[in-house]
Amino acid sequence: MIDLLPLTPSIAERTRPIYDRVAGVITAAEWDLFAPYIDAINRLKRERNAVILAHNYQTPEIFHGVADIVGDSLQLAREACRVDADVIVVCGVHFMGETAKILNPHRTVVVPDARAGCSLAESITAADVRALRERYPGVPVVTYVNTSAAVKAESDICCTSSNAVKIVESLGAPRVLMLPDAFLASYVASNTDVEIIPWHGHCEVHERFRAIDVEQLREGDDGVVVIAHPECPPDVLAAVDFAGSTAAMIDFVRTHQDRRVVMLTECSMSDNVAAEFANVEFVRPCNLCPHMKRTTLPKILRSLETLQDEVLVEESIRVRAQRALEAMIAV
Ligand code: 13P
Ligand code: SF4
Repeated sequence: MIDLLPLTPSIAERTRPIYDRVAGVITAAEWDLFAPYIDAINRLKRERNAVILAHNYQTPEIFHGVADIVGDSLQLAREACRVDADVIVVCGVHFMGETAKILNPHRTVVVPDARAGCSLAESITAADVRALRERYPGVPVVTYVNTSAAVKAESDICCTSSNAVKIVESLGAPRVLMLPDAFLASYVASNTDVEIIPWHGHCEVHERFRAIDVEQLREGDDGVVVIAHPECPPDVLAAVDFAGSTAAMIDFVRTHQDRRVVMLTECSMSDNVAAEFANVEFVRPCNLCPHMKRTTLPKILRSLETLQDEVLVEESIRVRAQRALEAMIAV
């Protein structure tokens, strides 16, 4: 961390209840560095009438320390519609900030680091979607929320990994274009009779998991339960006990209460939910998302102080992207 803020006894006391929740995943020495930022962010948040949304992949000091609303992409998109604050700080990646801005054009939306991208969002452009429409006239376009506002604007409806099958089936069409994640498209295709035409995007975090990892985990520990995100390759999904969005994975752990669980997804997930499930042991492997990890406490504090990096979406794009997002939320 740069520009360290000093820890005072009163800050230590005010932040103690938060530390008690995360003591299993954050060391006391690390907490001494985080606590002054958490204290300053929570104070400034009130002064600015700001709300902090954080994705499940944010680190525990952000997820438990400063976030007002946490969740998967669908939960964050839904909550972004209901927010009653002057400023929305989105801790996640840039497309999540854009989603909040599309749904809240009159509020100030900031992301702590505008460089926080996503390999899926970068895999497709608005021009690609227009070319696909020419190639497949009349076929509806379902777009994963992990895309730019410009791509959403070219789409009929958005989806997240939580609702993708439901969204595809809601259209009543015999076939749909499903963009841009090839593995999510294949997962949906295996759960519906609708013909799915995919794009070739991949999540650089989830594509690295291998079916052999799952086999080896089970060989070493036959009681282990393996759950995965649908952005993983199809042979991985075929080998696991459950596949679902980040929120669906948390619900699975809550419902089943298995003793040992592997979450084939981004590493912060297990750290964040460990606090809630003290009796569950979360076994690795996991992979880090470098984009999600760009967000840090000092950058959140800076974004509240300066209202940078502000997310802006050109109005003609925003209105069309809003239509696609609201069509999803209505389903
Ligand atoms: P969900 O939280 O919607 O499952 O998405 C996972 C993801 O990779 C977001 O970037
Ligand atoms: Fe994008 Fe994958 Fe990172 Fe999610 S985990 S932000 S899909 S690169």
